[in-house]
Amino acid sequence: MIQNLKELRFSPDVVLRALADQLMVGGSFAAAMVVHLLLAYSGAGANPSLLGQYAQVYAQNIWILMLVSFAIFAANGFYTRGRAYRGRYKMLVVAQAVALAYLVYGFTVFMLPVAINPPSLVVFLGFLFTLVLTLGSRAWVHYWSIVELERKAKANPIPIPNLQLNDRTILVIGGAGYIGSGLLPRLLEKGYKVRLLDLLMFGKEPIAHVLHHPNLEIIQADFRQVDKVVEAMRGVDTVVHLGGLVGDPACALDENLTTEINLVATRTIAEIAKGMRVKRFVFASTCSVYGASDIVLNERSNLYPVSLYARSKIASEQVLHKLQSDDFSVVILRFGTIFGLSGRTRFDLVVNLLTAKAIVDKKITVFGGDQWRPFVHVDDASLAVMLATEAPKERVHNETFNVGGNDGNLTLGMVGELVKKLVPDAELIDSGRDGDRRNYRVDFSKIRNLLGFVPQWTVEKGIQQVIDALRSGRVRDYRASMYSNVKYLTEDTASESVKQYYLGWEKGLIERAHMQNTTEEKPPIATPQA
Ligand SMILES: NC(=O)c1ccc[n+]([C@@H]2O[C@H](COP(=O)([O-])OP(=O)(O)OC[C@H]3O[C@@H](n4cnc5c(N)ncnc54)[C@H](O)[C@@H]3O)[C@@H](O)[C@H]2O)c1
Repeated sequence: MIQNLKELRFSPDVVLRALADQLMVGGSFAAAMVVHLLLAYSGAGANPSLLGQYAQVYAQNIWILMLVSFAIFAANGFYTRGRAYRGRYKMLVVAQAVALAYLVYGFTVFMLPVAINPPSLVVFLGFLFTLVLTLGSRAWVHYWSIVELERKAKANPIPIPNLQLNDRTILVIGGAGYIGSGLLPRLLEKGYKVRLLDLLMFGKEPIAHVLHHPNLEIIQADFRQVDKVVEAMRGVDTVVHLGGLVGDPACALDENLTTEINLVATRTIAEIAKGMRVKRFVFASTCSVYGASDIVLNERSNLYPVSLYARSKIASEQVLHKLQSDDFSVVILRFGTIFGLSGRTRFDLVVNLLTAKAIVDKKITVFGGDQWRPFVHVDDASLAVMLATEAPKERVHNETFNVGGNDGNLTLGMVGELVKKLVPDAELIDSGRDGDRRNYRVDFSKIRNLLGFVPQWTVEKGIQQVIDALRSGRVRDYRASMYSNVKYLTEDTASESVKQYYLGWEKGLIERAHMQNTTEEKPPIATPQA
């Protein structure tokens, strides 16, 4: 409870929520008084002074009730953006808080001589009305935000835009990674000319299946090299930027490097693209920008990032929005957490990791089981990029889309249970919360309505896919550093070219420059003039 009070945040949406709750409390107590007054009238006949007496009791009591209920609601996590008040237990927490508020209020007025105690029936009715209103309003918000939007999307399906085959050249930056290795074959199958600009940090293996495709041109370089970016951008119609330092742990290694790669380079690349008359710039952002929140979030919701990774993405989105113009469409895709197999499968992401642990270690260890996360399969992520690339301009021009499906919103506990269902001999362990504060449930109606995006994969199907890969030996050691971004950078496995460009080329150069100077003859010391 104390933690909830410490995490109180008075952002506009929180203030509105608190006001709405207090309106419900005040309204419920007023309704209870009215009911009691009507009962009194019916018993004792019309007595004009009764109304004034009831109004006085209301005025004396309502501010105490409101103060107490606000404090108790806040202590129960109603107005934090974090952890205690959410998920399956939400209704229970609300009911408990309302009951406690009325108990404390009852006790307070009993102890305070300044207020006239209201009849106990009024307190009881007030409690009942408040309970119904607070639970009802939350159920309604849930219904409205998920079920109703989903129903509307089903009722008015918008066909997937007519996709055209043409000889457009598409530049995919960072396309040899988890998402990109699934995207490249899709683009090539559609007949596009594809240029890949990637440092190939994880080698050529992730794209081995398309390596010799006649329509694929590969430029192996760091996207911070301006000459290489300019070379890669020639004759390009659309840029898809997937490259970067990806994930909270990898970004936390070095703040300067993360800012340089994820933000500064994104700005430079986009400026070059705009200058070279690229028409569309599709940027990979993340639903991590939402951070920690209790409500279902859409593209207009407030952002509460809890990591440098998420902040670097928000800053990049802002920079890109500033660059957009009539001729330069920026499309932001905020991907949910990805799962499933691609050319470069990652096992540092929760669904894949829990599945691998279940198969190999016979343990499914879940941290923070009640935290929500939206999940989307890696194939569906590349489908979304295709749609953003091919959709008519008016559907995507300067738009931001959450990428996923409403059914993909699951708590980490639910993911653990799904894995347990498919690997029954593994033990499901809830280890409590670790340091990861992310908790967000996301609404995906926009991408569905505007681009006709419907995920083809469920989390369960993706888990089965990973199980098959592990059992068939397609994935040998899920702990190998190539499957994890942070391990790859920290364990001494990165190739020389990666180290040279990524991990501080400038420091090495400066050191060598210093050594050269020390071997040279010392310059003569100038003698001061008299
Ligand atoms: N995987 C997810 O769950 C997820 C979720 C949300 C958003 N995203 C976003 O999608 C994008 C792709 O993610 P991913 O999981 O495929 O990442 P990844 O780490 O698997 O791939 C990143 C690719 O970028 C390349 N790269 C990195 N720095 C580079 C540089 N300086 N120069 C050239 N190439 C460089 C790497 O070689 C690699 O091929 C990222 O922008 C990420 O933030 C991913």
